Amino acid sequence: MQYNFEEIISREGTKSVKYDLRQKLFGATDIIPLWVADMDFRSPLEIEQAICKRAKHPIYGYTLQNDQFFGAAKRWLKKRHQWEVSTKSMVFSPGVVPALYMIIHSFSQPGDKIIVQTPVYHPFYDVIKGNGREILTNPMQLQNGKYEIDFKDLELKIDKKTKILLFCNPHNPGGRMWDKEELERLGNICLKNNILIISDEIHMDLSLFGKPHIPIASISEELAQKSFTCFSPGKTFNIAGLNSAIVSIPNPDLRKKFFRAMEASHLFIGNTFGTEALIAAYKHGKEWLDQLLPYLKENAEFVCNYFEKHIPEIKAMKPEATFLIWLDCRGLQMDDDQLSEFMIKQAKVGLHRGIQFGEEGRQFMRLNIGCPRPILQQALQQITKAVKEIEI
Ligand SMILES: Cc1ncc(COP(=O)(O)O)c(C=O)c1O
Repeated sequence: MQYNFEEIISREGTKSVKYDLRQKLFGATDIIPLWVADMDFRSPLEIEQAICKRAKHPIYGYTLQNDQFFGAAKRWLKKRHQWEVSTKSMVFSPGVVPALYMIIHSFSQPGDKIIVQTPVYHPFYDVIKGNGREILTNPMQLQNGKYEIDFKDLELKIDKKTKILLFCNPHNPGGRMWDKEELERLGNICLKNNILIISDEIHMDLSLFGKPHIPIASISEELAQKSFTCFSPGKTFNIAGLNSAIVSIPNPDLRKKFFRAMEASHLFIGNTFGTEALIAAYKHGKEWLDQLLPYLKENAEFVCNYFEKHIPEIKAMKPEATFLIWLDCRGLQMDDDQLSEFMIKQAKVGLHRGIQFGEEGRQFMRLNIGCPRPILQQALQQITKAVKEIEI
C-alpha cells in the first residue's frame, strides 16, 4: 500500500493537544502548531483496523498484556534493531514518562542526584523534581552544529549521591544518535560509579539517514544488568494518545522491584485499544515506517536548507533521528519571551520554547517536522516574512 504523507487531515475538534489547545496556549486559533511531539500523518491502516475490530466488541474491561503483546515487541526489536530482548525482561507501562517517574521513585532516595545531559526533553526535569531528587546537569557541548557529551564535566560532577543517569537515546531535542564509542564511555563511567541507567529510547525507530540505533543495554551484559530501557510505538507510529509503552529490565531483582511499584500504583493495567495498537504496530507497521522515514528525511533537509538560504539568523540543527528540529535563534537577538511572542504574534507559528529544555535552550526553539511539507512551507514563509519586517 502506498501512503500519502502530503494528505492534510484536520485534527481540529478531536481533543488534540496540538490543535485544540491553541487558543489557550497561543491566544489564537490561526497559529500553525509545530510544537508538541506528535505527527499530523494518518497511522498505519493495520492499527486503525485492529482498533476498529476491538471496538466492535462492546465490552471494554481490564485488558491483559500477554505473550502476543510482548512477543510483537520482541520480534520488532530483533528485526528492526538486531537487538535480542527476552519477553521475560519486559514490563508494561502506560507511557514512557510514567515509567521514568516510577524508576526514579523506586531506585533512589530524596536528595539523591540524577544526571541529565542538557538541553533535554523537559519532563526529565519534572520526573526528577517531582520525586524530590536533585538534578545533576551535564550540559552538552555544541560542536560544529552537533551536540557532544562532555565526559570530563560528567566525571568531575559525579559524587556519592549520584545514583541514576537519565539518558535520552536518540536525543530530544538535539536529534543525536549516540555512537558505540560514546555509549561505551558513558556506560563505563556509570559502571565504575555504580550508577543505574534509565535509557529513554522512544525515538529509536526514527533514524532519518540510515544510521543504526544502538540501545545502550546492547553494549554489554554488564550494562544490560544496570539498565532500564524504555520504548514504545507512540512516536514511531503516531499513536501517542494510546498510552502503551514497555520497559526492558534484564536484571530480575530490579525488574521485580519496578513491577511491584507499578502494581501498587495500578499502573500495570494497560489500555484496551493501546494494547491492540501496539501489537498491530509492531506486527504490521514496517511498510508504513519504511515509507515515512524518507518523507521525514526530506522534510528535515527541506527545513534546514530553507533556514540556511532564507533565514540565516536562525540556525537549524540537522537531526540524525526524530521528527524534531532544534533551532538556534540567537541571531534574532531576542530574549525568550520576545522570541515566543514574535513567533506567535508576528509569524503565527507555534513552536516549543527552547528554555523549557534547560538553560542551554535559551534563545532556541524546537520545531516539529512531522507534518505534510506544504504546512512546513507555509510556516517557513510566515517566519521569513516576520523576520524581514523586523529588519526593515
Ligand atoms: C524523549 C521522550 N520521552 C518520552 C516522551 C513521551 O512518552 P510517553 O508519551 O510515552 O510518556 C517523549 C515525547 O515527546 C519524548 O520525546
